[in-house]
Amino acid sequence: MPRPISATISLPSLHHNLVATAAQLNINTTRTPSRDLTPRIWAVVKADAYGHGIRNTVKAFGEADGLAMLDLNEAVVCREAGWSKPILLLEGFFTPSDLKEVAHYGLTVTVHNFEQIAMLENVAAPARPYNVFVKLNTGMNRLGFAPDDYRGAYARIEKLRQSRVIASAGKMTHFARADDSTEVTDEQVRIFNEVTSGFAGADSVCNSAGVFTPGRWQSVTSGSPQWVRPGICLYGASPFAERSAQSMGLLPAMTLRTELICVRDIPAGAGVGYGHVFTAATPMRIGVVACGYADGYPRHAPTGTPVVVAGVRTRLLGRVSMDMLSVDLDAVPQARVGSPVVLWGEGGPSVDEVARSAGTIGYELLCAVAPRVPKIVV
Ligand SMILES: Cc1ncc(COP(=O)(O)O)c(C=O)c1O
Repeated sequence: MPRPISATISLPSLHHNLVATAAQLNINTTRTPSRDLTPRIWAVVKADAYGHGIRNTVKAFGEADGLAMLDLNEAVVCREAGWSKPILLLEGFFTPSDLKEVAHYGLTVTVHNFEQIAMLENVAAPARPYNVFVKLNTGMNRLGFAPDDYRGAYARIEKLRQSRVIASAGKMTHFARADDSTEVTDEQVRIFNEVTSGFAGADSVCNSAGVFTPGRWQSVTSGSPQWVRPGICLYGASPFAERSAQSMGLLPAMTLRTELICVRDIPAGAGVGYGHVFTAATPMRIGVVACGYADGYPRHAPTGTPVVVAGVRTRLLGRVSMDMLSVDLDAVPQARVGSPVVLWGEGGPSVDEVARSAGTIGYELLCAVAPRVPKIVV
């Protein structure tokens, strides 16, 4: 018998979230691909689609305009699964030999440093010229050319366009604080607008927080077509600390379910689990749940982290161990061995609530679900 734990991935919820994201951009996902100026959507599916399984998103995000990810191998999986629309590699390529594959699979690449430009200058013109997005560092201070270097970098890319190594050259940046600071994000957009002004390529600026901030994508003023890059919202979690995914009209796409494998009564003064970090103040019933940090549940989730047992919201008790965790059953007298437990997702707490309690973000929990947890696709 396998352990009762599983992660259910809901294709209808993934699709719903794409539609809800598109609605923020005032487009519907079945529009005809005209050269209008409403943003196109790169559905961000990196890290195995934030833990949801990249093949699943090829199906669920069929109406997106493109998929964005990091890994060449993931891009190949998408092509082999039948994705024929654009694919963007968010960190671009790493070696000249990657460029062969980029050309072969018709991938779009981010260019963010001069080493990549040198590699492009040294390759023979491919049969199918490359599509690139040239990234500007507007304040994230992660990838991208410094504002003072950007025009020089873009001019070298333009030259490559004339020699037919490159087919198209978009412009791109990434927000550092779109979730919590209008001022910082306004300043990033101001720098983007100023430095890229006059370059004709498409723009790619907004992540989920940008898409769900009214007026944000419209603040990019080049007039070029835009490609937004939402990730977390597509999986039904929120990029904002203060706004729930539910209030944004999103549905959880992953539900982490398991069962009680033991129920016991403990006396006042009994400690629970490693370190006895929880001690019962009164006699109580507790349950042992088949899920631990080796399944991807955060070890640092403290007593009080919400859990739903047999449809009743209750709380985690004590320290999470490798394969098990304990819960308070005082409010769930009907709980038995085999009673269903939802750790996050549909019918349970949101992944963002669990993450907040554990001092992290929903992104990390979704990506961390371990390979040993079977995924059930519905
Ligand atoms: C370059 C880039 N674009 C877009 C995204 C999507 O961000 P989010 O999941 O917050 O929408 C990410 C995620 O980290 C990213 O690194």
